Amino acid sequence: MSTHDRHLRVGMVGYAFMGAAHSQAWRTVNRVYDLPARVRMSLVCGRDESKVADAADRLGWDGYTTDWRRLVESDEIDVVDICTPGDSHCEIAIAALAAGKHVLCEKPLANTVEEARLMAAAAARARADGVRAMCGFNYRRVPAVTMMRQLVADGRLGVIRHVRAAYLQDWIVDPQFPLVWRLQRDRAGSGALGDIGAHIIDLTQFVTGQRISGVSALTETFVKERPLPTGSSGLAAQADGNGRATGPVTVDDAAVFVARLDGGAVATYEASRFATGRKNALRVEINGSLGTVVFDLERLNELEFYDATRPAAEQGFTRILVTEGEHPYMSAWWPPGHIIGYEHSFTHQMRDFVEAVATGADPTPSFADALQVQLVLDAVTRSAEQGSSWTEVTPALAAEVAA
Ligand SMILES: NC(=O)c1ccc[n+]([C@@H]2O[C@H](COP(=O)([O-])OP(=O)(O)OC[C@H]3O[C@@H](n4cnc5c(N)ncnc54)[C@H](O)[C@@H]3O)[C@@H](O)[C@H]2O)c1
Repeated sequence: MSTHDRHLRVGMVGYAFMGAAHSQAWRTVNRVYDLPARVRMSLVCGRDESKVADAADRLGWDGYTTDWRRLVESDEIDVVDICTPGDSHCEIAIAALAAGKHVLCEKPLANTVEEARLMAAAAARARADGVRAMCGFNYRRVPAVTMMRQLVADGRLGVIRHVRAAYLQDWIVDPQFPLVWRLQRDRAGSGALGDIGAHIIDLTQFVTGQRISGVSALTETFVKERPLPTGSSGLAAQADGNGRATGPVTVDDAAVFVARLDGGAVATYEASRFATGRKNALRVEINGSLGTVVFDLERLNELEFYDATRPAAEQGFTRILVTEGEHPYMSAWWPPGHIIGYEHSFTHQMRDFVEAVATGADPTPSFADALQVQLVLDAVTRSAEQGSSWTEVTPALAAEVAA
């Protein structure tokens, strides 16, 4: 049997924003990359039958179901891809792992540390049977971000002194924007912190190879009461017609914190949904003893690199266009200079996941890596609740990091 005869049959739960992004990546990954297994988009799950039937047709899935348990237990499925809000990640992931399915779960891993611990422990147990689990921190797979990590690992930045990270949006500046699931703690776990702060926590730890060991944080909820939504959509929604029915916002609108990394760097992080004019602005700068790198998602094909080892007269920021065949992930795409976009990070994520599952390797970030991010989120929340007091990040337990 040739390697191309091997199939991984995927079942995806949730088909809205991330479901669409993942579907596109599942559809594309074998067409771009030569992989040891072929993806089959077997089953998609949503709760409304006519909507999920339409989504299956539109997004390219062979079939659909309205019950995620049926998907997880199906003999026709090898991989469960979780694209639902955080309140269902834990239950679906643990059931899928127990059923022997490989799991790709969107970030943040869970809504609480307790859930994330259970998930990491379940992944560690499943790994002993060759079952793999990964969390979807897709920004790791933007080629310029992967290249940042390589520059750090190759010693081109020297000793890392500063990490400066911000992830800024403005989609809830209007106080009449409705109370969607992302603004409810029981659905989302936290607000800007877990939704977008989690990304810059993972990204900076990935790039530097250092982990956040302690934090001092502030969080704020600027608009405390909002109209109830008429629909359940994520980032775009309509308010209740008369606007009189309202409910409390139970998550942070913004979170800022300073942190220490375990390799000696000091860091600042800012995550906000109130940064007027900033739509999806993720920016990271890292200063080392030998150089600096800067990544800006709005210019995701580029990396700014300052190499302080060059002769003084030639020093300055270099804009590297990360589209050469030598750059991470790029050889399979277009000729140099033919840029890629946001969605490609998901295709790269699926490439790495399929490759790992098919070859019996451990995909990253593992559930244990994602638990560590959750422990940082928890430290930020505790610090903010205690007047910004210095708060150490609780280490994960041995049984949780075996994955
Ligand atoms: N990696 C990224 O860049 C990124 C971006 C956005 C969201 N996310 C993450 O992806 C996840 C989903 O976010 P989204 O923006 O796609 O949300 P969304 O509101 O657009 O979609 C959620 C989907 O889950 C479905 N759903 C909810 N509960 C379900 C259940 N019990 N059974 C079956 N389906 C259910 C909804 O019907 C909907 O299809 C979240 O964890 C979020 O943090 C990641």
